[in-house]
Amino acid sequence: MSRAQGRESGLPGTPSATRDGTGGSAVLTSGSFDAGLLAAATGVREFVWGVATSAYQIEGAVAEDGRSPSIWDTFCTIPGAIDNGDTGEVACDHYHRWPADIELMRQLEVDAYRFSIAWPRVLPEGRGRVNEKGIGFYDRLVDALLEAGIRPFVTLYHWDLPQVLQDRGGWPNRDTALYLAEFAGVVAARLGDRVADWFTVNEPLCCAWIGHLEGRMAPGERDITRAVPAAHHLLLGHGLATQALRANATLPARVGAVLNLSPCEPATDDPADLAAAVRADGHTNRWWLDPLYGRGYPEDMVALYGVEPPVRAGDMETIATPTDHCGLNYYFRQVVTDDPDGPLPYARMVAVPHARQTAMGWEVHPDGLTELLLRLADEYEVPCIYVTENGSAWPDVVLPEGLVEDKDRTTYLENHIAAALRAARAGAPLAGYFVWSLLDNFEWAYGYAKRFGLVHVDYATQRRTIKLSGLRYAEIIRAHRQHASRPVGIG
Ligand code: FCB
Repeated sequence: MSRAQGRESGLPGTPSATRDGTGGSAVLTSGSFDAGLLAAATGVREFVWGVATSAYQIEGAVAEDGRSPSIWDTFCTIPGAIDNGDTGEVACDHYHRWPADIELMRQLEVDAYRFSIAWPRVLPEGRGRVNEKGIGFYDRLVDALLEAGIRPFVTLYHWDLPQVLQDRGGWPNRDTALYLAEFAGVVAARLGDRVADWFTVNEPLCCAWIGHLEGRMAPGERDITRAVPAAHHLLLGHGLATQALRANATLPARVGAVLNLSPCEPATDDPADLAAAVRADGHTNRWWLDPLYGRGYPEDMVALYGVEPPVRAGDMETIATPTDHCGLNYYFRQVVTDDPDGPLPYARMVAVPHARQTAMGWEVHPDGLTELLLRLADEYEVPCIYVTENGSAWPDVVLPEGLVEDKDRTTYLENHIAAALRAARAGAPLAGYFVWSLLDNFEWAYGYAKRFGLVHVDYATQRRTIKLSGLRYAEIIRAHRQHASRPVGIG
């Protein structure tokens, strides 16, 4: 069945949710959603429920077994860079506690686990010599996941560039794209007999724009003449890594990038605000999607930045190497107003009156997820989409009985799952949904204060407690599995 057919068919057994996203939870409770039917309707063979993490945010053990420093270890030493002076030195101590963390995933009943591989563990010099102890860690992790019936989804680059490569120029240096491909080849050669699902780069927007233009993430630069080349080399690295994964894995490698996208809307109908929304959309969405899907860089944005991306012959074809899927990380929409004196892209986000906000100050807006999934399907004809991250931080309270009754996170989860399924029912080729995050963890410049986990972590003792939202997620997964017309999960 084609997408268009699926959209019109009004499939039975799928949720009928309301536009404001509030209708989801009752529908989900009834268990009427049929994942098998969904898969058939969208042309996607299977649907996976998962959780996501990244290496630097959970592993700790930064100086163990031959790991070299990453740019985040360096960034954490800059006074004032991270709230409360936190660092990823210990984080969730996942490097030592991973068997217990896999057990938690079993309790959550997830089909899949998205995690990232620390480049400085595997290639401490950034390239060349492979550190057996580093790659061995992931080798054991993959074996244990498979044994637990959990499908590994591997991200190569989740922001932890080896510092030695930063010292050679970092992402503004073209060589870094080639080194990413080398890293991809090494990892695929070792894990590609058991791992089939790959993501090359996570949120290149954050690395390029927040890391090189806004200075709020590693490496902490504020220079558009370095940010634009960094963006180009991240995309080039994605294309080269895609090819390297396919060339070196034994299993057929399914590959894509992970993008964080936001619907961008004008705060008013003033033409200046309308134009600001177009710029925000260019900066956040089109700058990444257009080249990945073969359209080149958006000309309006090249003109706005005033910096030509350092494109060499063949680069745009490499960047647009056909991929198997796209990962979508969704957190918020951007409602913007013209801000001619502000930073690029001269569009300032404004708070939506009366809207609910998470502890990050991000508006809760489930419909944005529906909108983005349909846009990827309609405008870019993406053949298969995973929601690779979606989740929320709230001021969790651990009750004396040891319970964490995170009702806000639970409601957020239910409403966003319903929003994702609405898009699938309307024809978006949705293949899975991953909650950010399995564990409370090191939330980059916010340190440990912002908690996104389905599992609470007491950082003093490393004690883990599944929150109410985690129990609810397991219930949703169970309900859908039971009602699927054919098995979901490991395929
Ligand atoms: C995303 C990152 C992820 C996490 C969430 C909250 O931008 O990919 O590592 O920090 O935000």
